[in-house]
Amino acid sequence: MPIAIEELNNTNCKCYLLTKGSFAILVDPVRERLETYRQLLEHRSLKLVKILETHTHADHLMLNRDARQVLQAPIVMHRNSPSPLVDEHMDEGDEILLDGEIIRVFHTPGHTLDSVCLVVEGAVLTGDTLLIGGSGRTDFPGGDSGTQYDAVTERLFKLPDETVVWPGHDYKGNTSSTIGYEKQNNLRFLNKTRAQYVELMAGLGLPFPEKIQQSLQINQSGFEADEVSFPLVTDLQKISEISAQDLHALLENPERPRLIDVREPEEFVGELGHISHALLIPMDMFQKRLPKLLGYADLPIVVICRAGARSAAVCALMNQAGFRSVRNLQGGMLAWVDQQLPVQH
Ligand SMILES: [Fe+2]
Repeated sequence: MPIAIEELNNTNCKCYLLTKGSFAILVDPVRERLETYRQLLEHRSLKLVKILETHTHADHLMLNRDARQVLQAPIVMHRNSPSPLVDEHMDEGDEILLDGEIIRVFHTPGHTLDSVCLVVEGAVLTGDTLLIGGSGRTDFPGGDSGTQYDAVTERLFKLPDETVVWPGHDYKGNTSSTIGYEKQNNLRFLNKTRAQYVELMAGLGLPFPEKIQQSLQINQSGFEADEVSFPLVTDLQKISEISAQDLHALLENPERPRLIDVREPEEFVGELGHISHALLIPMDMFQKRLPKLLGYADLPIVVICRAGARSAAVCALMNQAGFRSVRNLQGGMLAWVDQQLPVQH
């Protein structure tokens, strides 16, 4: 018996319950519906084994530490996810098991760097990579319409035509589609070259979702708005960045910049390690430490986190506080490690 798929939210923003026997996986749960999910799982005597996120969402709050406690299951996201709340990372080609049935992970960056599609027998959960008659916007930080085109045309459209498509959103009341139908009818991709798709996406001119201030930065950082103050999108757009390679070269220099790592202590000594001489100031401690740091306001500083999202927020706050030469490590420790640059644990 294959995995059963049900949509739970009945709104534009979809959450899926995957079940096999008495075991369940939730995909893209929305925090405000936590109690509904908990009651449903209890009522049906389902054991929740994992919470999967298809990407870092910008339009709703994802589960936080308290919600994870309520559902008592690990949160699983692609390794590019910026959040410190992820318990397990997944990557291209991984197979996640639900009572012996396989969920295959396709890494499909484009909407975000951490976007995945989840392939089960006969169906695919496409997140915001492929929507019914559409595709997810690619104008958020880390978005790339070219890689999204590749993911859809070279990965998803190579699945069998009868594969059922369960999207992350639908704004017209549709529930599901098929790969065959999308290949024939999705005007974003039908008869479009990669260059034409990139041009089309660049011209969409979509407004930013209302909740982006509250949602995206909270979801990226794992902190609530009352725990840290988040900068405005316009302030984020003004920060300077430095690549991992360029930072590595600069550190050889006697005039080396000061390094501030804003991750959690567990991440600092965890899998990705940290850069030698980096000063650890977790993001939620930053406000408190700011007065002392002002002594360095004229010195070059590079701010570091996991994927470059939390550190971007801190750079913007430091710019506002009057620091003169603050840069963000582009792509964070993930980029540093991918370039095989030296780390300490
Ligand atoms: Fe999204």
